[in-house]
Amino acid sequence: MSQNTNTFYHGDCLFILKHDIHPESVDLIYLDPPFFTGKVQAGKWKGEWNPEAMEVSFEDSKRFWKDKGISEHAPEWMKHIAIKRPDFASYLYYMMERLQACHKVLKKTGSIYLHCDYRASHYLKMIMDEIFGYDRMVNEVIWAYRTGGATKGRFGRKHDTIFYYSKTDKRTFNLEKEKSIQSHHYGYKNVPYYVDPNTGQQFRWALPRDVWELTMGTGTRERVGYPTQKPEGLLDKIIRASSNEGDLVLDPFCGCGTTVIVAHKLNRRWIGIDIDTSAREKGELPTAFNVIRNRSGELFAQSSYVSRELSEVLEMSPKGFEDWVNEFYNANKPYPDKGVDGITVEGIPIQAKTYLIKYPVLSEFVTNAKLHPNVPKPVKKIIVASQTGFDDSARKRKFEIKKTYGIDVLLITPEEMLK
Ligand SMILES: C[S@@+](CC[C@H](N)C(=O)[O-])C[C@H]1O[C@@H](n2cnc3c(N)ncnc32)[C@H](O)[C@@H]1O
Repeated sequence: MSQNTNTFYHGDCLFILKHDIHPESVDLIYLDPPFFTGKVQAGKWKGEWNPEAMEVSFEDSKRFWKDKGISEHAPEWMKHIAIKRPDFASYLYYMMERLQACHKVLKKTGSIYLHCDYRASHYLKMIMDEIFGYDRMVNEVIWAYRTGGATKGRFGRKHDTIFYYSKTDKRTFNLEKEKSIQSHHYGYKNVPYYVDPNTGQQFRWALPRDVWELTMGTGTRERVGYPTQKPEGLLDKIIRASSNEGDLVLDPFCGCGTTVIVAHKLNRRWIGIDIDTSAREKGELPTAFNVIRNRSGELFAQSSYVSRELSEVLEMSPKGFEDWVNEFYNANKPYPDKGVDGITVEGIPIQAKTYLIKYPVLSEFVTNAKLHPNVPKPVKKIIVASQTGFDDSARKRKFEIKKTYGIDVLLITPEEMLK
């Protein structure tokens, strides 16, 4: 995989961050994860938990947390939440694993902006403190808007919280003065004011604060109909402040692609990830990806699409599957192929088939691999991937090949690859 290419990945960002993105390679991450909406099933966990019993058996405790979707590695406070709100705790653990993976791919000079729902922001901040360190928090940005959230029974909910953390104290940060429109002059007695010749509005040049007022109106051209779309202006501020031209910007929950579109406009490289499968039944690419394509055809033409979604991989044509396996293992198809579908950069030969693999296919492949001029000798390992699987005779042949030629045979299916 080359990280010079702008790429959209389809699948769970946890897998992609771990498998596809090089550690310490990303300059800036913005993420706007889905909020937990699952309802706790009434009474399901009530009375089932007995802390003393848990101390008795470590195996039991592992099973206990696993049942709840959180691991024994979760911080104690999260386990405590699991007692009363198990579903919410498993959401928090789900986020923790993904934020840990984000931390791993960020460069030492990198920054991360986590966009939060008010119902989860205080918990997510604790997770960020666990992973990045409480002293790595740079700002709590308040994004204030005018639309939505108004009611008579309480104050209108008109803001989101964005936590900005850096990996170390040596972060990229470009602080540019911006136009600040003032309705009053309190506290700015000696500050010179200017008048915008087009609007007549009075403004001053000011260093930006951590409260950002930005509204994307309901009827604006920018709106593409994606329910959780964020304004380009928001991403523009973040990307300009925390990256430079040519830097790599990543959004693990990219939705309709606001981050990648703005990153592209600002001459940054980008990676967008989304799991959306709502268009699968219609045989279409993910809605998120389709929207990105419609928003910017030019951007789409210069980018790659990589699937990490099992159902999509299982439907691939023989040629599509072969290409996918080669991409997955960072392998190239040799020319002439002489019965070898791919060779990894380490020199391991690959065979990729859509059908059920049996004994003779393996025998033939070993011979082809040993004879192929581009495969380094002696052959120590071969990879055989099948969309459908392997029968018992293939498994038997695997052991014979090891015994006779000392060659390790990896028999693998897309399910196992994407685990
Ligand atoms: C709140 S939306 C992001 C909206 C985005 N900021 C925009 O401007 O369009 C969250 C997105 O996360 C995606 N998603 C949910 N779980 C995911 C996962 N595990 N990996 C990758 N994407 C995921 C959803 O499909 C959804 O598009």
